Amino acid sequence: MAKIAPSILSADFSRLGEQVKRLGDKGIEILHIDVMDGRFVPNISFGMPIIKSIRPLTKQIFDVHLMIEEPSKYIEEFVKAGADIITIHFEAERHIDRAVKLIKSLGVKACIALNPATPISSLEYILEDLDMVLLMTVNPGFGGQKYIPYCSNKIKDLKEMINRTNKNILIEVDGGIDKTNIASAIECGADILVAGSAVFNNDAIEENIKTLNEAM
Ligand code: DX5
Ligand code: ZN
Repeated sequence: MAKIAPSILSADFSRLGEQVKRLGDKGIEILHIDVMDGRFVPNISFGMPIIKSIRPLTKQIFDVHLMIEEPSKYIEEFVKAGADIITIHFEAERHIDRAVKLIKSLGVKACIALNPATPISSLEYILEDLDMVLLMTVNPGFGGQKYIPYCSNKIKDLKEMINRTNKNILIEVDGGIDKTNIASAIECGADILVAGSAVFNNDAIEENIKTLNEAM
């Protein structure tokens, strides 16, 4: 069954711990954690100290989306900080095969993210080594953007590519997911739906999760 992964990028950072715990109480199993360096994307978010500080509060799966240049330099530190899934961008790493091997050697799940215009054929030779592929459905860098419609075909194409492998590789979609498009993203083949503003736009996060669940 498809799952919602709230992105804490849009959380209220003055009470991040409380909001994370409330998501856990609501049965949310995956927390999406957006790390931005101001180089790969035109925005800076947060790094290891924030992840470390919320790690003891919850057993949720920490899905750490690294929107940073040369992510392999920092993978080990993010695993130490508490990541369960490490996502690196295809566009940000010169030695993607080596980086994926590094992630797996550290005992966490490996995921590659593709920007909207990056073709899925980039993954042809590495797909079977991955636990998950993240398809960006907006240009990364900011919460609250609009879903890019051509990404729906990309999700479908990736689903077909994965089906040909006979492996259980998950598809995560990230950007502009809300109650109007969540069902169609799932229909196209998405397994994990990242939702930032749709969950954290106001403090009624339980209500917002319910709305998304009902629309799925
Ligand atoms: C965007 C981030 C997303 C973002 C999604 O660069 O990777 O995870 O938080 O936010 P919404 O759901 O508001 O598009
Ligand atoms: Zn993200």
